[in-house]
Amino acid sequence: MHAIPVKRTIAVSSGKGGVGKTLTSVHLAAAAARRGDRTLIIDGDLGLANVDVLLGVKAEHSIFDVITGSLRIEDVLIKGPMGITVMPAGSGIAALQNLDADLRDRLVSGIRSVASRFDTVIIDTGAGISETVLQLNRLARINLVVTTPEPHAVTDAYALIKVLSECEDIPTIAVAVNQARSDEEGRRVFERLAEVAARFVTARLVFAGTIPVDPAVQRSVMARRAVQENSNFSIAGQAWTQCFHRLANLADDWRQESVRMVNEFALAEGTQS
Ligand SMILES: Nc1ncnc2c1ncn2[C@@H]1O[C@H](COP(=O)(O)OP(=O)(O)OP(=O)(O)O)[C@@H](O)[C@H]1O
Ligand SMILES: [Mg+2]
Repeated sequence: MHAIPVKRTIAVSSGKGGVGKTLTSVHLAAAAARRGDRTLIIDGDLGLANVDVLLGVKAEHSIFDVITGSLRIEDVLIKGPMGITVMPAGSGIAALQNLDADLRDRLVSGIRSVASRFDTVIIDTGAGISETVLQLNRLARINLVVTTPEPHAVTDAYALIKVLSECEDIPTIAVAVNQARSDEEGRRVFERLAEVAARFVTARLVFAGTIPVDPAVQRSVMARRAVQENSNFSIAGQAWTQCFHRLANLADDWRQESVRMVNEFALAEGTQS
């Protein structure tokens, strides 16, 4: 299975639930939209959807209707704030929690069929290490793991990093530390993770940044307006925007890296003949 052919495809995951994946996803999407990218956000937290709730959009249909074959994927996409396109996950649909391989394949091919129309695709996955989470991560070129500084969130983040890095097509994993009290605290958490990972994990870890605890975030959640034109002005909003730019740079490097590998391969082939 290969990543979808969109340079900036970012899967957002976490070991422990409630650490801020969905907020991170919508803010990354907002940063992309703000710079003019055609942006798609996929709610991959199947069965427990909440991207639509945070964005204050009303989803009548969902991915569920696509994988059961009753609607085309185009018919479930809706427009959110800032022109962001939302692919809603069904909420309260138990069947979505445990997709069999067949339905997962349908989900993945549905995503593939629309993704190439966008410049940035953000995938908000569910918490933990389900097969659906792993599949969604394999579709992305950038794999972001979100944690908070809490010890058990960090332990669960490490467990997820370990499992992700066992997928051979995930060579690099980015880590963002959310709800930190200071930049130093965020960096310390990352360094601790990177130190352990360097010994036991094959993937390279890169730091995507620290996002501070910000009361403005909680207010925006209550108002169902997690992102709007001015969300960039809150301190957390700015941190998420920086995080997006780091990840976008990483995506550029990723492409250069694969171009370099293709060139080297061509060169090696050339020398042999
Ligand atoms: N930087 C922040 N500052 C303040 N509060 C925050 C911040 N990040 C997250 N929160 C709080 O944490 C809550 C959970 O965030 P979010 O829904 O994004 O987590 P999640 O990882 O997607 O959860 P789930 O695993 O249930 O999907 C938010 O509703 C908000 O109250
Ligand atoms: Mg969530």
